[in-house]
Amino acid sequence: MLLQGKKIVLGISGSIAAYKAPELVRQLVKKGAEVQVILTEGGQQFVTPLALATVSRREVMLSMTDNSQWHNHVALGLWADLFIIAPCSANLLGKMANGLCDNMLLATYLSARCETAIAPAMDLDMWQHPAVQHNISRLKANGNYIIDPETGELASGLTGQGRMAAPENIVSWAERYFYQQRPPLQTALVTAGPTYEPIDPVRFIGNHSTGKMGIALAEALADAGYSVRLVLGPSSCSTRHPGIETIPVTDAASMYEACHRYFPQAEIAILAAAVADFTPVSVAEQKIKKGTDETMQLHLAQTRDILASLGKIKTGTQKLVGFALETNDALDNARAKLERKQADYIVLNTLQDAGAGFGHDTNKVTILSRQGTVTELPLQSKKDIARAIVNHILIS
Ligand code: CTP
Repeated sequence: MLLQGKKIVLGISGSIAAYKAPELVRQLVKKGAEVQVILTEGGQQFVTPLALATVSRREVMLSMTDNSQWHNHVALGLWADLFIIAPCSANLLGKMANGLCDNMLLATYLSARCETAIAPAMDLDMWQHPAVQHNISRLKANGNYIIDPETGELASGLTGQGRMAAPENIVSWAERYFYQQRPPLQTALVTAGPTYEPIDPVRFIGNHSTGKMGIALAEALADAGYSVRLVLGPSSCSTRHPGIETIPVTDAASMYEACHRYFPQAEIAILAAAVADFTPVSVAEQKIKKGTDETMQLHLAQTRDILASLGKIKTGTQKLVGFALETNDALDNARAKLERKQADYIVLNTLQDAGAGFGHDTNKVTILSRQGTVTELPLQSKKDIARAIVNHILIS
């Protein structure tokens, strides 16, 4: 949906990766984009205009004048919502960084008012060359986006970073780009951290949650253009993101109140906090003395389930996301939790994976949706996983 009706100019230059360009065009067109291809002379050595015209369903522009007809690069630049150059050769990068203009692609690049995303493709040593990296820095400083080349086997037979980002990754990049262009200020609610259930003025029942995952999710939502309210239990972590308002809370009851205050205005709510399931029935006014008893009993009562209570009042347009930390029968328990709490998604954590869960900077999760899909995200930093979770929820 994000690419529906979007006008994309795709510049293709002379690199072996140009053989992937028809697949890129096909995927963009399939998602509803209108794609106008400009193919340089170098590009024509690797891919035919006929192939590109067939998949784009438009005549391909090869030079400033094709068939004795002048192509209006200014009008084309104004028409585009986004200019993608994929593959971008080292030669073309250098020309773009220096404002040269000796072909149709470069003339359109200089006249376009829309933003440009460049997917470079070259051999690993060329990519690492200071001259190329200098051009990349200049192009970034000029406001272009770089879709970094990927690592793998290269046409030269060497292995390393340099091959053009896979067509599906360029398409995802474009979807994210148009997503971020949408008018901002939809609001989101995120809970994070532990809760401390007071026993007496100096003691509490808590847990090991640091709040890192929830904070990373709040930041990913804010980066995606949301105005985020972060309801944060006692945590040594915090965020200074300008798109996030932090509401500090201490126990399950105050987290419940804050969530119900802000949920009605939120399009999305992600409840990542590790909320206590039980809280002391009464809080001693004075510090409890040890006395002479060998044992002591605390009388606990269940806390209110915030996720389940929001599930009951959620409207059709709100997306509600819960977390589940499971040690056994993980998928079955998570699916049952999704149903019971009427969430749209459950993000499942298991503590069995090395590097996942409380206290780590990395995490590995599986996302279950109400539609029955199960998506596994590999072990990665909590920041990256937060971005992947948010993308999944926003795009699916
Ligand atoms: N949760 C909540 N309010 C509570 C307890 C949990 O909103 N009082 C939310 C958590 O933030 C999380 C989800 O519910 O998004 C699942 O938490 P979890 O502790 O795994 O679930 P429980 O309901 O406690 O289930 P169980 O103890 O049976 O595993």
